[in-house]
Amino acid sequence: MKSTNDNVSIHKVMKNLDLIRVTDAKVKYFEALWEIPEGVTYNSYVLHTSEGAVLFDTVNSDFSRDYLEALRSVTDVRDFRYVIVHHMEPDHSGSLKDLARVEGFRAEVLGHPLTSRLIKSLLNIEVKFRQTRDGEELKLGATTLKFIHVPWLHWPETMFTYVEDFRTLMTCDAFGAYSMPPYMISGAEYLSAEYVRFMRKYFANIIGRYRENVIKALDKLESLGLSVDLMAPSHGAVLSGVDVVNRVLKLYRSWAEGIAEGGKVVVLYTSMYGYVERMVEELLERVADRGVRVELFKFTSVHRDNVADFLGSLLDAGVFVIATSTYDGGLFPITKYLLSLVVSKLNVEKPTYLITAYGWNDAALRELKNLFSSSKLVLKGELTVNSTPTKADLTRLDEMTREILTQSGVSP
Ligand code: FEO
Repeated sequence: MKSTNDNVSIHKVMKNLDLIRVTDAKVKYFEALWEIPEGVTYNSYVLHTSEGAVLFDTVNSDFSRDYLEALRSVTDVRDFRYVIVHHMEPDHSGSLKDLARVEGFRAEVLGHPLTSRLIKSLLNIEVKFRQTRDGEELKLGATTLKFIHVPWLHWPETMFTYVEDFRTLMTCDAFGAYSMPPYMISGAEYLSAEYVRFMRKYFANIIGRYRENVIKALDKLESLGLSVDLMAPSHGAVLSGVDVVNRVLKLYRSWAEGIAEGGKVVVLYTSMYGYVERMVEELLERVADRGVRVELFKFTSVHRDNVADFLGSLLDAGVFVIATSTYDGGLFPITKYLLSLVVSKLNVEKPTYLITAYGWNDAALRELKNLFSSSKLVLKGELTVNSTPTKADLTRLDEMTREILTQSGVSP
């Protein structure tokens, strides 16, 4: 590994393939939305062929200067024959603007037909552009590149490239993850639970909305019968080895199909003055030591959990519990915001239980039920308390607990 500075490093992925990796530890809100204290990487790859060098994607323009310096250390950037743009979101295309301004830059830029228009609107540059056809092959001496269009992973113009002679699939956002892991994970045994969590979080935050397209893309890869030994995403680690590639493909299918992890319950709650929190504590006492794994996300006057983590966690939960209250004659605003993300990003069929608290108007429950009509969440049970629970409320909570355990696949 060579480092050009603290943020950029160069890794020899294989003899003819270099990874230029930027680690972004400063970003707090990816896409100005998702909290990622774990940071993120932007991966750009350089393939050396007998007929010239090929660049696959660039990085966020905040890092252009150091990125270009790193690129220059692996090849003369004026000699790039092609730049392949898999996806135009600026975390991958941003530095193309500075690269294209390098004197003598003469590479042809290849991408999906929609990419040309985005180069103009996002980067405002003129380049020699050629659109790719889905399935088109490009031969460079002994090297063959095959372009595979995979719309909506993550934008409509997204594509993968399969480098046939290295059995390598360049996947941009897909199969990537947040965090700043080792540059390569070789073998499924090194795919840690923590890294899978960052991969799942990235999936939920970025690609989750397009789950049907993920399934189409996975089916397409299967039908093409590609042998993939190495996956090279544009965030996170390079995945090396058939076993780790297959494991990640399986995870993606499971997340895309909304398959739940048995025994996992996600509880989301907001509490202004402790009335909702009291009900959540009552519920937690009842499910404790009963074989379910509860992941709790709370929004109170002294604590706010990570919204991006919440979405990642909910993706494969078996049961979802929402506990919240009325506010200003409607649903508590944070709950409204979080549910809008659940619906727009995940929209999975999920058995859901509601617990609401109110003073004089149970508007929260009414509004929650209205929101359900536009989502795939499946309302399985509800309990509303007029601030302090009565004996009857706690009896109903006992019943709800039994239902939650059953729904989670655990004997009540
Ligand atoms: Fe990592 Fe959709 O960009």
